[in-house]
Amino acid sequence: MEEVEEIYDFVPCGLFQTSANEVIQKANSTFLSWLGYTQEEVVKKKKWTDFLTMGSKIYHQTHFTPLLNMQGKVEEINFEMRKKDGEKLSVLVNAHLIRKENDSVEVVYYSIYRFTQRKQYEIELLKAKQQISTQNEELHASKEELKMNVEELQAIQNTLAEQNIELEKTVRTLVETQDQLIQSEKLASLGQLIANIAHEINTPLGAIRSSADSIEVILLDTLPNFPQFIKKLDDQTLFEFNEFIAVSVEKIDKLTSRQKRVIKYELIDKLDELAISETEELATIILDMNMQEEQALFMNLLKIDYPNEIIKELFQTAFQLSTIVRSNQTIKEATSRAAKTVFALKNYVGQDHTEEKTNVNLQETLETTITLYHNQTKVGIDVIRKFDENIRFLGYPDEIMQVWTNLIHNAIQAMNGKGKLIITTKNSETQNQQKTVLVSIQDTGTGIPIKIQDKIFDAFFTTKPIGEGSGLGLDITKKIIEKHNGKIWFETQEGIGTTFFIEIPITDNHK
Ligand SMILES: Nc1ncnc2c1ncn2[C@@H]1O[C@H](COP(=O)(O)OP(=O)(O)OP(=O)(O)O)[C@@H](O)[C@H]1O
Ligand SMILES: [Mg+2]
Repeated sequence: MEEVEEIYDFVPCGLFQTSANEVIQKANSTFLSWLGYTQEEVVKKKKWTDFLTMGSKIYHQTHFTPLLNMQGKVEEINFEMRKKDGEKLSVLVNAHLIRKENDSVEVVYYSIYRFTQRKQYEIELLKAKQQISTQNEELHASKEELKMNVEELQAIQNTLAEQNIELEKTVRTLVETQDQLIQSEKLASLGQLIANIAHEINTPLGAIRSSADSIEVILLDTLPNFPQFIKKLDDQTLFEFNEFIAVSVEKIDKLTSRQKRVIKYELIDKLDELAISETEELATIILDMNMQEEQALFMNLLKIDYPNEIIKELFQTAFQLSTIVRSNQTIKEATSRAAKTVFALKNYVGQDHTEEKTNVNLQETLETTITLYHNQTKVGIDVIRKFDENIRFLGYPDEIMQVWTNLIHNAIQAMNGKGKLIITTKNSETQNQQKTVLVSIQDTGTGIPIKIQDKIFDAFFTTKPIGEGSGLGLDITKKIIEKHNGKIWFETQEGIGTTFFIEIPITDNHK
């Protein structure tokens, strides 16, 4: 029996029993030690509910007691008890109610278990559950968000697709517009080209017309009297007269009107010594014929043994004849200028030459061109030729001349009438041993600024004033060189000058 008591006292759960009024009648040591009380303090003195916290007391009243009364037992109900030292003790309570025959309560047996650890687990479980559920919620939320994002993305994609279609349309329109632009640009360029050509042709036409007019006037005036006039001259005088004219037509007018005035008075003084009448008119004629430095020639004619009127007529006629020759020179220059324009236009429009290539004498083409520019170079430009003898190649001579014309013209313009024009020719060879001619045209002009170097071969690119440059020279030049399967390039230094190089195959194997 003692053993049973011992087990009762020390089993690892709290045991106690109460009477109907809930006063503890008996309690084991485990229970008492959990709460920190002694037998004496508890048994028959305290209700077990005295040890419950307020919350547990209410729960006891509302749930536990009715259940116990109805079922006769209650299992594993969680209560909070208050220990003697004030700490809380969480327990699971089992109760078993024993009734008397008259149904009144005889005794209630309680067994309680400490719940602290279990409670901890539960709390953690709960926490975990909550966490899971929040995570679940979060997951759900992110899923929703994702769904929304996907929807948004879809919408954006749709908009993008629409915009793409719009863009494609715009691009198509742009391309069309660009085509139109290019077309109108071409028309504009063509307009500009035509304006330039009109100017380029009209100017020489004007010169031709006025020259022709003055020739006509002179001829009408001179011709009727000319045979008689000639008859008046002896052979020697006629010879000197002819020479006088021939030298005069080669002369250029270099003097300013101020210089002319000074020279005129010197001349008049000189003529006065010869006792000739109308010396002023004679001096004027000599100056107009640019013969002021050819004293021997004009003195010969002045000293001849003729009456004054014949001497005067002689000078007047010489002047008129030289004017005819000069006017004719002007006509020739103007014609070749107009022809050059037409030629350039023909080249520009790209009219294909149907003629075969011929043997081109390089030096001849260069000399012809240099001659054409004689007027512009003879004053301040030193033309230096460094020609290899007898270079020939297959090509179109008129087009090749157009190349030299453009390059020499540019060089003269870049030098502003003063400097050195060095033209070199030699036989050469490409890297793959193709025989070529190499020409270089060097000037001591302004040079080509870096920022326009890659534009100068473009059609209509020019830095020259309207009327002076159409910007077609180098474009045409390059096209002609390429037609000959050649190459053109340049070296330049601002303020020092420019050299253009042209290399053309001697026999063109490509065609
Ligand atoms: N030798 C050169 N020295 C300096 N600049 C040059 C030289 N050659 C060409 N250029 C530059 O290149 C530009 C284009 O030359 P291009 O011959 O094509 O046209 P342009 O001379 O202006 O007009 P066009 O030849 O039709 O009368 C010139 O305006 C000039 O600025
Ligand atoms: Mg030019």
